[in-house]
Amino acid sequence: MAILPFLLLSVLSILQFVSSSPQVRVLSAEKRIDLTSPIVRVFLTLKVENTGASEASDILLAFPPTEAEHLAILKASTAEGKRKKKTYVPLSVGSVESADAPNGAQLHAVQLRSPLQSGETTTVEVLYVLTHCLEPFPAEISQSESQFVYYRDSATILSPYQIKEQTIYIKTSTNKVESFTKIDPTARSGSEIRYGPYHDRAPYSYSPVIVHFENNNPFVVVEELVREIEISHWGSIQIRDHYKLKHAGAQHKGVFSRLEYQFRQSFGASPSFKNLLARLPPRVHSVYYRDEIGNISSSHLRIDFQKSELEIEPRYPLFGGWKATFTIGYGLPLQDFLFESPDGQRYLNFSFGCPLLETTVDDLTVKVILPEGSRNPTAAVPFPVHQNLEMTYSYLDVVGRTTMVLRKTNVVPEHNIPFQVYYDFNPIFMLAEPLMLVSAVFLFFIACVAYIHMDLSIGKSS
Ligand SMILES: *[C@@H]1O[C@H](CO)[C@@H](O)[C@H](O)[C@H]1NC(C)=O
Ligand SMILES: *[C@@H]1O[C@H](CO)[C@@H](O)[C@H](O)[C@H]1NC(C)=O
Repeated sequence: MAILPFLLLSVLSILQFVSSSPQVRVLSAEKRIDLTSPIVRVFLTLKVENTGASEASDILLAFPPTEAEHLAILKASTAEGKRKKKTYVPLSVGSVESADAPNGAQLHAVQLRSPLQSGETTTVEVLYVLTHCLEPFPAEISQSESQFVYYRDSATILSPYQIKEQTIYIKTSTNKVESFTKIDPTARSGSEIRYGPYHDRAPYSYSPVIVHFENNNPFVVVEELVREIEISHWGSIQIRDHYKLKHAGAQHKGVFSRLEYQFRQSFGASPSFKNLLARLPPRVHSVYYRDEIGNISSSHLRIDFQKSELEIEPRYPLFGGWKATFTIGYGLPLQDFLFESPDGQRYLNFSFGCPLLETTVDDLTVKVILPEGSRNPTAAVPFPVHQNLEMTYSYLDVVGRTTMVLRKTNVVPEHNIPFQVYYDFNPIFMLAEPLMLVSAVFLFFIACVAYIHMDLSIGKSS
């Protein structure tokens, strides 16, 4: 009985919502959920039809609050052109005020290229990435056990629109699926679970499902990454990446046996990891890898024309809940990343995000340290980030280096896209450091000359 007013309220709010937006119906929807890595990727294809009288300029997507808080990236596109010349055109997506959506659902609006006229249909492709959505269960495992995780979702797609036909496919990392909720029709073959097809579901239909499966991928989470990108107009860019890394999988319990570790390692079925792969730009030089104890010698660098791959090995293999702190540093040629814009400004064009493969970064700070004497820095980043300026001082600095600080939480590999930092620079400042060195040498020389010519003897001169 207590639930009744609540239900009534949510029905009312649905009605309100529907009446305030143009009539859109989803003809067919397909959702493919990729659970093969610790990062969850969802591909959604929606074929929508405008059944109202007025035109519709955007399509709304709904997320339950638990997903919304783990949403790292949301992109939409639409296919244009015929079969062979099909190209995908990106569409802009923005979050919208969703006070009237039931149960705290969060809405995002996909802006269509041209408004959808009454009776017209279009297809929208959506990709979104979720982090920290796989819950290890059991939460603690010993060294010899496999890691199993829970994934929670709905068998029907949460949507503010009525969906005529829909199917969900869930891909797990291995064939070992302990259990999954069945809502007919449901089928599993190997590592794929299918929910649906379901027909004519009302707006905001939600039927919770849970999938329990094996996922022995290394759950590498960088809790904090501070990247320092220091530009020197004398020909190089220095990068220093400070990592605080964690194995975010099931907690390790019991004692650690190296013998057993080596045995399981050779069979491949262990959620622990002992090495990490970082993808660095081509032409890197002076690579180092160290922690607070000192240089860690276990790293391998492979360089080719397109990229460099650095394989690093922390001092010990990492099990669930274990942490490692280290720094990777390297130099890059200036001309690969620093350019001049048509209006005479200089700009750095560099990749945002973390160079470690398949890694979530909870808190990323990118510091672009500009040369001394740089003015008016501005950053162009293709997604919202927090920006501020600070000063960095290093050897021989007089006024300090202007530093552009960019911060972003919940960063995934999809964020590894170029960003730019523009600034004004007067080349006269390039002379500042050599001039200081020259004048220091000159002063020293004068002092020597003065010393030689000074008569410091006490005795009477003849
Ligand atoms: C650190 O170790 C690497 C091997 O990975 C070696 O090439 C380098 O010379 C060492 N650096 C120092 C300062 O010891
Ligand atoms: C930045 O570099 C990427 C390739 O790494 C390139 O595609 C892009 O056009 C560059 N952006 C600017 C503004 O130069």
